Amino acid sequence: MSPMTANQLRQKFLDFFASKQHAIIPSASLVPDNDPTVLFNTAGMQPLVPYLLGEAHPLGRRLANAQKCLRTDDIDEVGDTTHLTFFEMLGNWSLGDYFQQESITWSWEFLTSPQWLNLPPDRLAATVFIGDQHAPFDQEAYQLWQEVGLPAERLAKLGKKDNWWGPAGQTGPCGTDTEIFYWTGSEPAPAAYNPSDKRWVEIWNNVFMSYNKQADGSFQPLAQRNVDTGLGLERVLATLNNQPDIYLNDIFQPAIAYLEQVSGLSYTNNPRPLRIIADHLRASIFLLADEKAITPSNKDQGYVLRRLIRRAVRLAHNWPRSTDEVLVGVAESIIQSMGSAYPELVAKHDFIVNELKKEVTKFQVTLNRGLKELQRLIETGQPISGAETFMLYQSYGFPLEMTKEIARESGRQVDEVGFQSELVKHQELSRTAAAGKFKGGLADDSVATTRLHTAAHLLLQALRQVLGTDVYQRGSNITTERLRFDFSYPDKMTAEQISQVEAIVNQQIALELPVACQEVSLDEARCQGAMGIFDAKYGERVKVYTIGSESPFSQEICGGPHVHNTAELGHFRIIKEESSSAGVRRIKAILE
Ligand code: SER
Repeated sequence: MSPMTANQLRQKFLDFFASKQHAIIPSASLVPDNDPTVLFNTAGMQPLVPYLLGEAHPLGRRLANAQKCLRTDDIDEVGDTTHLTFFEMLGNWSLGDYFQQESITWSWEFLTSPQWLNLPPDRLAATVFIGDQHAPFDQEAYQLWQEVGLPAERLAKLGKKDNWWGPAGQTGPCGTDTEIFYWTGSEPAPAAYNPSDKRWVEIWNNVFMSYNKQADGSFQPLAQRNVDTGLGLERVLATLNNQPDIYLNDIFQPAIAYLEQVSGLSYTNNPRPLRIIADHLRASIFLLADEKAITPSNKDQGYVLRRLIRRAVRLAHNWPRSTDEVLVGVAESIIQSMGSAYPELVAKHDFIVNELKKEVTKFQVTLNRGLKELQRLIETGQPISGAETFMLYQSYGFPLEMTKEIARESGRQVDEVGFQSELVKHQELSRTAAAGKFKGGLADDSVATTRLHTAAHLLLQALRQVLGTDVYQRGSNITTERLRFDFSYPDKMTAEQISQVEAIVNQQIALELPVACQEVSLDEARCQGAMGIFDAKYGERVKVYTIGSESPFSQEICGGPHVHNTAELGHFRIIKEESSSAGVRRIKAILE
């Protein structure tokens, strides 16, 4: 039997649910509407939250679609056989219409009926919620599975970690779920389902959404009971086609073959870089083609796009073909394989190609400077020292792996241990600087205070974005536990403003922005537009701390010290907002 294609699986799913009176809705944008707390839709239900909470959907109470999703949490895992950044999630929804009975019966029918996926029933298993203080054991799902044909040994009762889904953010619709597993082993499936046997692969999740998680952590019953199901298209395709490697499907195959050809690498011997480029380019072209018109930048979604493209450039930089030709070739291959399902890719073809070329050219300038520097070091005939490797990392963004790879091509060693100790030394330095330079505001020299100090810069900028540019810093005090920050603003902040500010700060942390320090004259600092209180307390030369490169997020005159990258901060949370004095508000915040 020839393998199923992505288009076939997607179409079968939509046809099946159309036959059950579901309206087929288009995928929403990759970027959520009106929600600054998340960069991307990471699940099919996200764009439907208002309807899951009770708003009437114009197309009715039964919906199905394929939703474009993007997840960056596991980006470092991309390159193996199963992880992707961009993926499609197939889903069907009941907005207060049907519930468990239909949901489970239809899942079973779609999976096992000869007319649909025709999977052997004896290769299936399911898990249901075992019950805890928030919700009882899901007796009904347990019963229904047995009625449709799963023996009790193929059912497992598990806790919240496995059989509870959501909410997608801090608050919102959520509930118990039942997950369906498929036996991928070459031998017949064992009689009993065993959750720790990895040959059982999850293929579909049915969530029975009947709770709304509140900001205080409690679960309130929803006004309506919903169903939200999610089936990852690429993973299920791999499973159905008995291809454990997700890149062997018809979407990626032509791109992989093209990459083999232009790199001279063999996919069998060297799959990682080819997979990463194929994955990152696919995500990039969907971002570029998105209705929200995302282009490479140093902020938010644009920054993720930039990182995806730049990683692909780095991986392909020394291939025989020019990098922009390689990237454009991969993009075109994926436009070809996915364009019929996503016509926006075809419509925006020229825009995609132009933006890719522009970003490649831009990045190559930095890359070439770094390469020149590295070449010079290689020509000395010496191994590349830890300090030199660190310099390439800090000044030109060369990850250790890349320096190693290039050095290896010329038969040079890289002092990896030295590089690591340089990294540590740098962190130590900023701690010592904290002790020496900071009186008053900073209570001691610990790493915690350095992190909070950088958080204060992010906070000021976030406050100015949310409350307006009349906001200025009026004072700050940092202990190892918390940051206290006073600023000019006449009114009490609303809960929404507070969470927007938190979201912006956390976004900058997630973006892993570099923090750089430059010593300039006070006039130059003023010209650069650095924040600061321009009075007698500064000397003629000042330090300007910049967070983010190219159109930075924040620039402030400050003695330091600061972390080297916002990634070191962890998670930022405002614990209190109160009045400090007339026209001045006070925020207390922590990093956790
Ligand atoms: N929301 C659930 C998931 O993402 C089902 O769609 O798995």
